[in-house]
Amino acid sequence: MPWNPETYNKFKAERYAPFFDLIKLIEAKNDLSVIDLGCGTGEITKMLADSLPGSIVLGVDSSSEMLKESGNFVTETLEFRQESIEEIVNCGERWDIVFSNAAIHWVEDHHTLLPKLVKLMNEGGQLAIQLPSNHTHFTHTAIKSLASAEPFKTALQGWTRTIPVLNIETYAEILYRNNISAINVFEKIYPHVLEDADGLVNWVSGTALVPYLEHLPEELHKPFMDEYRKIVYMEFPGRCIFYPFKRTFIYGILS
Ligand SMILES: C[S@@+](CC[C@H](N)C(=O)[O-])C[C@H]1O[C@@H](n2cnc3c(N)ncnc32)[C@H](O)[C@@H]1O
Repeated sequence: MPWNPETYNKFKAERYAPFFDLIKLIEAKNDLSVIDLGCGTGEITKMLADSLPGSIVLGVDSSSEMLKESGNFVTETLEFRQESIEEIVNCGERWDIVFSNAAIHWVEDHHTLLPKLVKLMNEGGQLAIQLPSNHTHFTHTAIKSLASAEPFKTALQGWTRTIPVLNIETYAEILYRNNISAINVFEKIYPHVLEDADGLVNWVSGTALVPYLEHLPEELHKPFMDEYRKIVYMEFPGRCIFYPFKRTFIYGILS
C-alpha cells in the first residue's frame, strides 16, 4: 500500500488526540512488554514508550515508507520491525500490552482478527485499540460510489474496498467470548472544522483514498481525484466545514 508519511502527517494534531485518549485507558505497570501494531512513522510508538517507563516496546508496520524515519526513535527499549499484523498474529510471541492506534481497520475480518490479537496477550495483559469508524461519512461513501462508476469501475474490475469495522456491541461481545474482562468499548466523535472541502479531500487522501489510488492505473489518478474533489465540493460548499470524525476504542484485560 503506498502510504505517504507527509500526506498522513498533514493533520497530525487532530490525529494525536485519539492517541492521548487511548493511552489514558492503559494501566501503567513496571517492566511491561508492549507491541504497537501498525506503528506508522514511529512517533506515536515513541510517545507510547515514554508514557510507560521501564517497558520494552516493539513497533511493527508493513510499510517501509512509513517506517523510514522510525530509526530516529530507536533506543535500548524501543525497536521497530517491518512486519504485517497478519504475520505477527502467527508469530507465537506474547506481550503485556497489545496496542494499536488507527491501523487495524486495514486488516480484514475483525471477527477472526480480534481473537488472534487476544492470543498475543500475556495473562493479565491489556488490549488497547483505537480505529476510525467514520466509514459511513459522505467522504467515504462518495469514494465507493465514484469507484463504482465508469471509467473507474472497469479499471478496478468492479473492486471496491469493504470496510471491516464492526459495531461497538460486536467488539464488546467478541472480547467477552475471549476471556477479556474490564471491557471498555466506546465510540467518540472528534469535532474538526476544516477550512473548506479541500481540507476534507486532503484528509481522506492520506487514508481512505490510498487503496483506490493503488488499484487504479496511473492515468486515472487525476481524473479520479478531480471527480472526487468536485463531488465533495458539491456536498460541502463554502468554508468552515464541520467534520465529526467518529472513532472506536476497544480496551480490556485478559483474565
Ligand atoms: C493511519 S496509519 C497509523 C499509524 C500510527 N499507528 C499512528 O497512529 O500514527 C496506519 C498504519 O497502518 C499500517 N498498516 C496497514 N495495514 C497493515 C498491516 N496489515 N500490517 C501492518 N501495518 C499495517 C500502515 O502502513 C500505516 O502505517
